[in-house]
Formats: sequence, C-alpha cells, structure tokens
Amino acid sequence: MTEKRNKLTVRGLTKCYGSAMALDGVNLELADGEFLTMLGPSGSGKSTLLWAVAGLNEVDGGQIWIDNQEATSAPASQRDIGMVFQNYALFPHMTVAQNISFPLEMRQVSAEKRAEAVTRSLEMIKLEHVADRYCNQLSGGQQQRIALARAFVANPSIILMDEPLGALDKKLRDHLQLEIKRLHETLKMTVLYVTHDQEEAMVMSDRICLMNAGRIEQIGTPEELYFRPRSIFAADFLGESNLISGEITGQEDDRIVVNLPGLGKVKVAGSMPGKNTGKIVHFTRPETIEVLADADIRDNMFYSKVDDVIVCGAITKLFVQFGDDACLKVSTLTSRTPQIRKGDIVSVGWNDDVGQVLAQDQREAA
Ligand SMILES: Nc1ncnc2c1ncn2[C@@H]1O[C@H](COP(=O)(O)OP(=O)(O)OP(=O)(O)O)[C@@H](O)[C@H]1O
Ligand SMILES: [Mg+2]
Repeated sequence: MTEKRNKLTVRGLTKCYGSAMALDGVNLELADGEFLTMLGPSGSGKSTLLWAVAGLNEVDGGQIWIDNQEATSAPASQRDIGMVFQNYALFPHMTVAQNISFPLEMRQVSAEKRAEAVTRSLEMIKLEHVADRYCNQLSGGQQQRIALARAFVANPSIILMDEPLGALDKKLRDHLQLEIKRLHETLKMTVLYVTHDQEEAMVMSDRICLMNAGRIEQIGTPEELYFRPRSIFAADFLGESNLISGEITGQEDDRIVVNLPGLGKVKVAGSMPGKNTGKIVHFTRPETIEVLADADIRDNMFYSKVDDVIVCGAITKLFVQFGDDACLKVSTLTSRTPQIRKGDIVSVGWNDDVGQVLAQDQREAA
C-alpha cells in the first residue's frame, strides 16, 4: 500500500502575542487531497495557524513544511497556496475575469492559457455570465464563489479558507458548503478550512481539528469527534450532550461501573482508565438514549417523569428527570401523533457501548 504524501506538516508551532499564547505547540499533518477543518471557539488560534501556514504572520517556534519543503521562514509569495477569507478581498478595480486571472499572471502563465483557465474556473462555479462585471456588481454569495475560483485557478498545493461563508445568510451558506465540497471532490484539492460552526465542520470535512486555547484538543473524523470525544470540552463543543458527574466504583469484566447520583449504577464498555479511579463525568449523546417499550431491555435503564417535551422540527427533545433537579436529554424523531407528553412516566435506556467516561480535568481526558 502506498502512503499518501503530506501536503502540509506543522511541528511544534508556537506563537505569542505579548503574554497571550495564540499557538501552544501545534502538530498537524494534512494529506494530499484531504479536507481538514480547524474548529474551535473565538480566540482559540484557528486564524493564527492558518495565517502562519500562509506566511502572513511570523511564528515564534516550530516548523512548517509544504510539499515536503521547509517553508517556516519562506515569504508568502513563495508558498504555493490559495486563500479565501470571510470578506471576499477581491480587487474592486478589476473585472471578475481579471480577478480570477491574477494568480496566473503572478505565475507568469501565458495569456492564452490564462483565458482558458478563467473560462474553465467560471464554468466550475457556474458564473460564466458575470466574467466582465466588476466585483461590486455582484452579490455576496457570487463574490465568494469568485474568491474560491481565484484560490483554485492556479492549482496550488494547499487552499486555505478562513471562515469563507461567515458573512453569508444561512441558506446561502448551506448551498455554498455543498458547492465547496463538490469542488474539493472534483478538483482533488487539499484544503485547510477554518470555521467556528460545528455543523459546517461536520458537513464538509474528512477530519476535524478541534482547537482550544492555542492547543489541539482532539483531531479525527467527524464521527470520531462526535461519538468519541476525548474530553468534556470536545463533548460540549460539538452537538448536544448529557454530561453527568459521578464516580467510578469498579470494573465488571469488560465494563466500567460508575455511580451517578440520581441515576444509580451505570455500566460503560471498556476498562478503567489508569488515572481515573475516582471522580469522572459520564457522557452520552441524547439520540443514543431510547424510550423503551415494556419488553425492551438495555444495559442501563431507569424510569422517570418527563419534565418537558419540545418539538424542534424533525427532532423532539424529551427532558427526563433524575435526581433532585437534573434532567437527561433524550432526542427522538418527531411523530405526527405524539406518544409522550409532559408529566408521563417513561422507561429510558442505553447500551453500555454508547456511554463514555471522561476525566473531570479537560486536559487529562481518558
Ligand atoms: N494581531 C494580534 N495582536 C494581538 N493578539 C492577537 C492578534 N491576533 C490574534 N491575537 C490573539 O491570539 C489569540 C488567537 O486568535 P485567533 O485570531 O487565531 O483566533 P480564532 O480562533 O481565529 O478566533 P475567531 O473565531 O474569533 O476568528 C486570541 O487570544 C487573540 O486575541
Ligand atoms: Mg479567526
């Protein structure tokens, strides 16, 4: 089996602004043709990393390799990179065609080949009819598609995108997410993408790199991050979760036994993590908990009162009481004839392979 070549390798990257650590020893590898998204809250270092890769800010330590060549101190103009930002950054005094042609001119491509590439790029983004317009004669969504075409027209090693859809309304954003995904697949581009929108990251990425305070919290496929978060921060940042504090009380065969106040004894598949013999946080996703019929058996089950029922379109959320004033969130598919109402007593349960034990300290996740 041939191993895929890395387009980008980042080793121990650090960057401080005064006493603020914007990047705190970041290691990252981006494979040829991969779509990797940097996800994380505001100020977690996503843009700082992207700009460092682009050569637009200097780093304090570590190394950046592009196409197996060290590029840590190479000027931006010598890095084979295309970029798309949140606010378009198109040249207002140039037409659409001239904007898209610009990276090719920088690379001294002949006029004939430039014209061909511009036409092909405009076809890719289905905007052939606006080639001769100036950019201020276009809508925000159209401008962002032109910015995309300008980023990929010269077929750079890596395309960097910093919240490219951030200024657009939800409907247009959803549409362009799929368009970028299609372009990525058709052109086999290698993309490093930044967003703080978890849904966007899940829709588009081969892998997600979750950032927290200048460090990588977790990196993996969308499914790994969603169903196997390694920390409270990761569980909480992506989607909804039930995070219940408790204590590990022992091990029974291949299951960890935890005691959760208000719920009692709960079993979790796996072995006791070395450091976590005491206080832990138990994690489940609301859609992995089921409302049970009389004959149903699950590894973990309990009866309780439904505190609230909220219909959110396709999903109905149930809040099932436990303990003194805590609720377990349960997501079910909305039914036209609702079976469960506020105040009902229901049986809910989940198997031991859907729950997870997380360390209380976010930095020392199990
Ligand atoms: N030019 C600068 N001068 C001083 N501090 C900066 C500068 N740029 C970024 N920072 C700081 O570095 C940290 C990381 O910032 P960065 O812009 O990388 O975050 P981000 O994850 O992109 O956030 P956002 O989602 O808001 O865009 C923050 O604490 C920020 O305040
Ligand atoms: Mg940013």
